Amino acid sequence: MDRRTFLTTTGAGVLGASSGMLWAQSSAQPLRLLPMTDLIGGINSRIALSLAPGTHDFGTGAASETFGINHSYLGPVIRAKQGQTLPFDVTNNIGDVSTIHWHGLHIPGDVDGGPHQEIERGAVWSPDVPIIQHASMNWFHSHTHGKTAQQTYTGLAGVLLIEDDASLDADLPKTYGVDDFVLVLQDKTFDAAGRMTYELTGEVFEDGYQGDTMVINGAIAPASQVVPTGLVRLRILNACNARFLELSMEIGPVTVIASDGGFLTSPVEAESILMSPGERYELLVDMSSAPSNALKVNLNGDGGGVFANMLGGNQITTALTLTRTDEMGFTGSMPTQLSNLEPPRPSDATVTRSFELEMDVGADLAALALAWENFCGDAGAMAINGMPMNMERIDEVVRKGDTETWRISVDDQLHPFHIHGCSFRILTQNGGPPPAYAQGWKDMVHVEEGWSEVLVQFNYDAPADTPYMYHCHILEHEDCGMMGQFTVS
Ligand code: C2O
Ligand code: CU
Ligand code: CU
Repeated sequence: MDRRTFLTTTGAGVLGASSGMLWAQSSAQPLRLLPMTDLIGGINSRIALSLAPGTHDFGTGAASETFGINHSYLGPVIRAKQGQTLPFDVTNNIGDVSTIHWHGLHIPGDVDGGPHQEIERGAVWSPDVPIIQHASMNWFHSHTHGKTAQQTYTGLAGVLLIEDDASLDADLPKTYGVDDFVLVLQDKTFDAAGRMTYELTGEVFEDGYQGDTMVINGAIAPASQVVPTGLVRLRILNACNARFLELSMEIGPVTVIASDGGFLTSPVEAESILMSPGERYELLVDMSSAPSNALKVNLNGDGGGVFANMLGGNQITTALTLTRTDEMGFTGSMPTQLSNLEPPRPSDATVTRSFELEMDVGADLAALALAWENFCGDAGAMAINGMPMNMERIDEVVRKGDTETWRISVDDQLHPFHIHGCSFRILTQNGGPPPAYAQGWKDMVHVEEGWSEVLVQFNYDAPADTPYMYHCHILEHEDCGMMGQFTVS
């Protein structure tokens, strides 16, 4: 039986398992702002990040057991500037080993925070993280081998915004909480008492965790926000473990100004955008043309693919309603030029590498789920190029500064592929050109049918004891072994 058939025939079971109770707010709650740690004005001491257990009310009225970073659930939005070095002290108080990886950052392997940089219980990890790249929206999350899915779902994630001279000068909305918002989108499940749940089964290992309830900045959607008239900026992170989200606006197209690694050349309008777990997009919404607008999310929006069919078609919810006041806010107009991004030059590549993501290496996923407490214990159930992730094995050796083409394919469904230590350009996605909004700097690419190819260059060292990772960003797949490691020197 091929996997597509298998998914279809077991679909009802998956749906049943994840839809015990659908929590939705009857009315929109005010948008929760993630607290900002703003370092743009300067850094005078070490930056403490404390990973700790907590309790958090997502809006059900019940206290869910969570992890957080300086907060009860999720971390702060850290805002820093190109050229700074961020002296972090990351303290691990969650009662289990953890790590913090800076997803999207162009930094050497020894501060990347991958699975080799474990922070033992009670220990402090103190990397000095250089901010080398241009303005971009990045994030940080647990990358603990075999436990990334459980720890990130429980709350070990935060946002890291990088600004540079150009972005600080740009004629764009940039007043946080007024016309500039960070939105962390996640899908969750809650039990009948309203407590967040996470339970691994064989099916969850297969498909990744699919929650039935949309959560935005740690609160059940929909959220509402009053904004001034003018342009409003939404910086969006898909922090779901496994769900692709299709975003659209109630009125008008989606206007995208930036992707994972920075600004596009100019704003791109799209009917909708498909965001994989781990991806970031920045949108502009023009609030001068209508008194209100709303960001819509289709939870089954993988382009009509396997999940949408399996889960019974579109499931569209309102994530955020924007209502304007008469007050004038950001008065600038829609920008025409955002950056000087050149088209990628595939002929620059001197090395080509191929990666096949493999779901089925014969492991009994149901038995694996039973054997461990909500994490992937032996991490050997999925593979890349026939080999499950092995912490002791370096899979690829890359020469610093070379331009390379990485070609990725899969044996079945849609997967989001991520590479550490770089931003790349997508040459082809699923055998065709990427949508215009995905043609800028990226560190995530969708892989489903045919090849997805990216043009990439690594400019920082990653030695064998702290190598970079490449992996599927469906966190349960990553934990199960769909990951590999490479050095750069
Ligand atoms: Cu967002 Cu290797 O991770
Ligand atoms: Cu990463
Ligand atoms: Cu995957």
